[in-house]
Amino acid sequence: MKGVILAGGKGTRMMPLTKVTNKHLLPIYNEPMIYYPIKTLAAAGIKDILIVVGGESMGEFLRLLGSGREFGVNLTYRCQEGAGGIPAALALAKEFADNDRVMVVLGDNVMDESLKEEAHKFESGNSGCHIFLKEVHDPQRYGVVELDGGKVVAIHEKPEKPPTNLCVTGVYMFDSAVFGIIPDMKPSRRGELEIVDVLNHYLKEGRLSWSRLKGYWTDAGTFEAWFEANAIVRENSIKGGK
Ligand code: G1P
Repeated sequence: MKGVILAGGKGTRMMPLTKVTNKHLLPIYNEPMIYYPIKTLAAAGIKDILIVVGGESMGEFLRLLGSGREFGVNLTYRCQEGAGGIPAALALAKEFADNDRVMVVLGDNVMDESLKEEAHKFESGNSGCHIFLKEVHDPQRYGVVELDGGKVVAIHEKPEKPPTNLCVTGVYMFDSAVFGIIPDMKPSRRGELEIVDVLNHYLKEGRLSWSRLKGYWTDAGTFEAWFEANAIVRENSIKGGK
């Protein structure tokens, strides 16, 4: 399986910090945010990773990460011009994926759990798409699953009245069919392609699987979540004596 990190976007929710620095290069305690998705993929046993980056920041990512040798991975970069939503960024990974399965991590997702076992299961199983769920106190900010008798029956993007507090984290595994689904998608009301529409497509086909994250997870893309991520990572690294 190959890895894809989506690190495009303008970081408008974190202006003015993102006026001159890309959001994914901001620090989480003692390391840049982008180190986290790279380490998540490396810990899952993935060696070949594509990073999709917004054009203006490409030079800085290269300067910071280079070939990826420091992390024991091979990095490839691709430039995303403009926005378009997560699926539009993911579509840029089609040639890189070359019919392999992919694990996709959003560049601002910070977590501390190894997904190695789930990655192995997905590679040898029948599921076409696997999502990782986490209980959160503010589900309106995320993709949220609707359950019926313990089964996922629908996924809603940023619902006003969330049916559960189980959010869809920004870590996904897809088979290569995903690159055939994206070109037929229509933009949502906010004018972007939505990743939950891709997930609902797999759900309708009965090819979606899910599991819960046990460890710490956050999407550090707002001031509050970013601040919280800094505090937790600091605390853990002090406890771990690092
Ligand atoms: C995106 C997805 C959302 C998901 C979240 C996880 O939201 O659209 O479904 O729950 O990432 O990080 P965004 O952070 O782009 O608003």
